[in-house]
Amino acid sequence: MRLLVTGGAGFIGANFVHLTMKEYPDHDITVLDALTSAGNEDSLAAVKDEIEFVVGDICDADLVDKLVERCDVIVHFAAESHNDNSFLYPMKFAESNVIGTMQLLEAARKHDKRMHHVSTDEVYGDLELDDPVKFTPETRYQPSSYYSASKAAADHFVRAAHRQFGLAVTLSNCSNNYGPYQHVEKFIPRQITNVLSDIKPKLYGSGENVRDWIHVDDHNTAVHAIIEKGRLGETYLIGADGELNNRDVLAMILELMDKPADWFEHVSDRPGHDLRYAIDASKLRDELGWEPRYTDFRTGLAQTIGWYREREKWWTKVKEETEKRYQELGR
Ligand code: NAD
Ligand code: TYD
Repeated sequence: MRLLVTGGAGFIGANFVHLTMKEYPDHDITVLDALTSAGNEDSLAAVKDEIEFVVGDICDADLVDKLVERCDVIVHFAAESHNDNSFLYPMKFAESNVIGTMQLLEAARKHDKRMHHVSTDEVYGDLELDDPVKFTPETRYQPSSYYSASKAAADHFVRAAHRQFGLAVTLSNCSNNYGPYQHVEKFIPRQITNVLSDIKPKLYGSGENVRDWIHVDDHNTAVHAIIEKGRLGETYLIGADGELNNRDVLAMILELMDKPADWFEHVSDRPGHDLRYAIDASKLRDELGWEPRYTDFRTGLAQTIGWYREREKWWTKVKEETEKRYQELGR
């Protein structure tokens, strides 16, 4: 199978490439990535001779057309993915996430190709802290940020392409990922690399916000299961029952890194900060037989901390500019 992996130099895309090469050695991989500030070529350095790596934009219609024509399946990860950045450069979210997705859909339509669209649970908005309810594929879309609104718009275009043109698509909406190769702008790697840089970790607001953590490899085995066995036109929610509030995650990081429990600072909250996400992944589990491999968050977190300790070169380059961006935002 010839895969066109968009966003393959980003966090989840790079992990997808590594997992695919290990577990599906017969697949050919072409990565299309614009290397925005979130992309990092070094994440694919170990496999660079075994894949094709094209630096380019998913909004570039001619390039997308050429690459889609010679693949079997598009696995679409590329996006502006960080909520806080949508306060700084909002238009890029509409361009990459909406227009970029449409360019891929139109090329897939022209060349009659299959596309798997990777999306987020944030399209559903947020849940109350004490509500037993979780997101299901039937939950109403109610995005609360420019990031989630742009992902929601893209999801609608993907479904419309299936309905209107019979395009062979599947969609997945996943909860918060953690693991190696995640940009230091995101919560967990920001705090790990803060500790490693002797900077106090930063907790937004009260820290009571809940995220449903899943290891990135579990996200990617689910994506493979959907590509192999998923029904066309369907949406699968991906999650591994990993609900934790930010305070507790930070406490675990501090403990695992031998720092005092109070060695962090509260910073101003993210405006419009979603309270809680939680995924009901029973459709994925029951229909496709998928199960997560990482069932103990603490163990996965300890491995992730180990990865950042050993890969200073991978992250020091971007740490300073990332913290400068946060200074601009006052958090
Ligand atoms: P990331 O920011 O780490 O990587 C995104 C990659 O896309 C980068 O390499 C970047 O260079 C590339 N890119 C951005 N705009 C592009 C463009 N116009 N053309 C070509 N390449 C472009 O993001 P991630 O965390 O790996 O997320 C990947 C996908 O998974 C996104 O679609 C995101 O919405 C979704 N998702 C992420 C999470 C999470 O927890 N990180 C959870 C659920 C869903
Ligand atoms: P993030 O990794 O940005 O993911 P998302 O907002 O898409 O869920 O943030 C995860 C949670 O951590 C979120 O509730 C915001 C919070 N957070 C902090 O408390 N401090 C930080 O420095 C960052 C980046 C996030």
